Amino acid sequence: AVRREFSPGLAGVPAARSSISFVNGETGLLEYRGIRIEELAEHSSFLETTYLLLYDRLPDQTELDRFTSDVTQHRRIKYRITDLIKCLPEQGHPMDALQAAVAALGMFYPARHVLDPQVQYWSAVRLIAKMPTIVAAYHRLRRGDEQVQPRDDLDHAGNFLYMLTETVPDPLIAKMLDTCLILHAEHTMNASTFSGMVTASTLADPYTVVSSAIGTLKGPLHGGAAQETVDMLEEIGSVDHVRPYIMQRLAAKQKLMGFGHRIYKVKDPRAIILQKLAQRLLAESWRSPLYKLAEEVERVGEELLAGKGIHANVDFYSGVLYKTMGLDEDFFTCVFAMARVSGWLAHWLEQIKDNKLFRPDQIYDGPHGRGYVPIERRP
Ligand code: CMC
Repeated sequence: AVRREFSPGLAGVPAARSSISFVNGETGLLEYRGIRIEELAEHSSFLETTYLLLYDRLPDQTELDRFTSDVTQHRRIKYRITDLIKCLPEQGHPMDALQAAVAALGMFYPARHVLDPQVQYWSAVRLIAKMPTIVAAYHRLRRGDEQVQPRDDLDHAGNFLYMLTETVPDPLIAKMLDTCLILHAEHTMNASTFSGMVTASTLADPYTVVSSAIGTLKGPLHGGAAQETVDMLEEIGSVDHVRPYIMQRLAAKQKLMGFGHRIYKVKDPRAIILQKLAQRLLAESWRSPLYKLAEEVERVGEELLAGKGIHANVDFYSGVLYKTMGLDEDFFTCVFAMARVSGWLAHWLEQIKDNKLFRPDQIYDGPHGRGYVPIERRP
């Protein structure tokens, strides 16, 4: 039977049964596999959280060591992937480079037998390990710098920052990036996860699943918001311009970037954690005018939009942090993708365990029986 009600954007329509994560948008609760995000941000690491998302439990020490070592040993990318990245235009968007390179990875590591646990494990390991290497390689190669090879003695986030800058990062900065990765690793049924699941439901390989999801994450209404937020802050320029800028923007019916969420009607719990991290980073190292500006935008934004249930979301502060870490703005969404790959893979595994091809319906509201008019008789 065809459901006749139509919900634009499928808002409120469940697309899966899932036990991976849970959000309560009224109270600002986010849990991964039943564990609160605040606890994971404080005590876990990105790789441990990834294990939790993929396998539904926290690993014991041996399991975590093995997983960490497998990921560490698969960070290198083939020369031919580096060559592919070198061939891409340097003005292109990094998310396109990441999507192309991830799709190409699938050609080197065919993973047709998606139900084979070995195929599942090693493709997850490869994707998680190699995405940061691809991102860092494009960051450097497009400026004409040499690619920096990964260093096995550095952890996941620390090694990524090292591959970007060829300098071992301050452990506090690496820890902050690791926390950002935890916070972005999973978020129930969002657009990119749904896109990945639709692809997964055709039994396509995991590299194709992840490359579909990367394409969906790129847009400004989803993963592109951190970059747009920083662009907006830079356009505002100074604290005294904040109020007139926001008033004008809202009067022109333009959205305030980094604000609003389909689910959260209170401040996004991830934004609360990120804001604390940003404050800590400032106290311990630099004074950032960008952060001061962000705080003022949040204050005025809250004043004008909180009444409509619109508050800062995860991407409001993440861009400010990435910028402070030295990442180019157009790379922020790639960092989101390096984190969300864990959630995408967890949903891929869940989907194919009890697969049903996604094939929704539509409500046709076009004409019938129009007839073909030959070109010389068309008005
Ligand atoms: N600034 C001003 N008004 C807003 C904003 C905003 N950021 N977000 C929503 N609204 C208003 C919107 O104009 C509309 O008002 P009205 O009912 O008067 O026409 C109402 O709130 C509902 O908005 P909507 O866009 O129809 O609702 P949605 O559930 O589709 O919105 C959203 C979710 C994320 C697309 C939207 O809030 C938005 O575009 N925000 C800015 C972009 C952004 O920060 N995205 C990151 C989201 S979090 C990370 C991620 O998911 O990747």
